[in-house]
Amino acid sequence: MSGFERQILITGGAGFIGSHVVKLFVNQYPTYKIINLDLLTYAGNLENLKSIENASNYEFVKGDIVDGDFIQSLFQKFDFDGVIHLAAESHVDRSITDPLAFLQTNILGTVNLLNAAKESWKSESGKLFYHISTDEVYGSLQKTGFFTEQTAYDPQSPYSASKASSDHFVRAYGNTYGLNYIISNCSNNYGPYQFPEKLIPLMINNVIGGKRLPVYGKGENIRDWLYVEDHARAIDTIYHRGHSGETYNIGGFNEWKNIDLVHMLCEIMDKKLQLKDTSKNLIEFVKDRAGHDLRYAIDATKLEKELGWRPSLQFEEGLEKTVDWYLENTQWLDHVTSGVYQTYYQEHYAV
Ligand code: NAD
Ligand code: TYD
Repeated sequence: MSGFERQILITGGAGFIGSHVVKLFVNQYPTYKIINLDLLTYAGNLENLKSIENASNYEFVKGDIVDGDFIQSLFQKFDFDGVIHLAAESHVDRSITDPLAFLQTNILGTVNLLNAAKESWKSESGKLFYHISTDEVYGSLQKTGFFTEQTAYDPQSPYSASKASSDHFVRAYGNTYGLNYIISNCSNNYGPYQFPEKLIPLMINNVIGGKRLPVYGKGENIRDWLYVEDHARAIDTIYHRGHSGETYNIGGFNEWKNIDLVHMLCEIMDKKLQLKDTSKNLIEFVKDRAGHDLRYAIDATKLEKELGWRPSLQFEEGLEKTVDWYLENTQWLDHVTSGVYQTYYQEHYAV
C-alpha cells in the first residue's frame, strides 16, 4: 500500500506538454502519487519542474520507454492505477532526418508500455491507459473542413506515421486484450517551456538574438494553435471523465497562416523590446519542408459537448503571455540551447 488514493505514471513529464500536465496533477491532486518517467533527451529538462520537485506526492524516474525490461520492472515496483503517456520524439523536421528514432520511441516505446500495463493489470477494471496523440495522424486538409474523431487516418510525415501507428497499437490492445484506454488527438500547442525548435519559440528566440526568421515556403501553411495549459486541463478532464475506448479531439478553433502568425509575433516583440527597426525585417522565406502538410484544423465539439471542456485563452492573449515568459526566462533559453544540448541545437536549428 502506497498510502495514496492512486498512483499515476506520466511519461515524458520533463518535456513541454508533459511538464505542464505533471504540475497540474501534482498541485491539484495531493492524494495521488505522480511518477514522472522521462529519459531527459534534448527535449526533456528538469528545470521545467522546479516548482514541484520537492512535493511529497511526486517522484521522478529517469528511464527509457524503449527498454522493455526496464518498463516491466517499473510496473512491478509501482502499482500504477493509470498511465498518461506523453513521451515521444515530437518534431516533424527531426523525423525527416531520422525516422528510425521516431519508430523506436513512438512505436516500440508505446508497445512496451502497453505490454507492461496488459501484464501487470491483467483484467483489473478501473485502470486506464491514456495515450496522448496529435491531429497530424489525420493527414493534411485543403482549404476547408475539419478533422473529427471519425476522420480516417492519413499520416504524411515520419512523425505522424509513428504517432498513427502508436494510436493503432493502443486500440489493438483494447480490442484484443481488453485494456481500458483513451486516446486524445490535439492540435499544435504553444506556451512556456517549449523547446525552441518549434515555430513559435524558435521565432521568439531568434528575434531576441537578432537572427533571421526562417519561414518555410511562402508561409501559407495553416496550423490550429492551443495554449499548453488548456491542453493540460483537457487531459485532466479526459483522464477523469472520459469514457474507455473513446477518442477525443482537442483544439481551440484557432487557425493561423504561418506568415500571419509570425507577423503578429514580430509586432508583439517589437513593442516589448522597443525595437527601432521592426523584427519583420528578419523574416526570410526558406526552402519548404519536404511533404509539408498544408492545413490542420480540429473540430473539438465532442469534447466541449460531452465533457464541457473549453479553451480559456484568446490567441493574442496567449501569445503575449508566451512572449513575456520567454523574455523573463532567457536563462532557460540559454540552458536548453547550450551545454549538453549545444551540438544538437547548432547542427539543426541555429540560424
Ligand atoms: P517534447 O519533445 O517537448 O517532450 C517529449 C518528452 O519525452 C521529453 O521530456 C523527452 O525527454 C521524453 N522522451 C523522449 N524519448 C523518450 C524515451 N525513449 N523514454 C522516456 N522519455 C522520453 O514533446 P511535447 O511537445 O511535450 O509533446 C508531448 C506529447 O504530446 C507527444 O506524444 C506528442 O506527440 C504529443 N503532442 C504534441 C503536440 C505539440 O504541439 N507539441 C500536439 C499534439 C500532441
Ligand atoms: P512546427 O512548430 O514544427 O509544428 P508542426 O510541424 O508539428 O505543425 O511548425 C509549425 C508550422 O511552422 C509548420 O507549418 C512548419 C512551419 N515552420 C516554419 O515556417 N519555420 C520554422 O522554422 C519552423 C520550425 C516551422
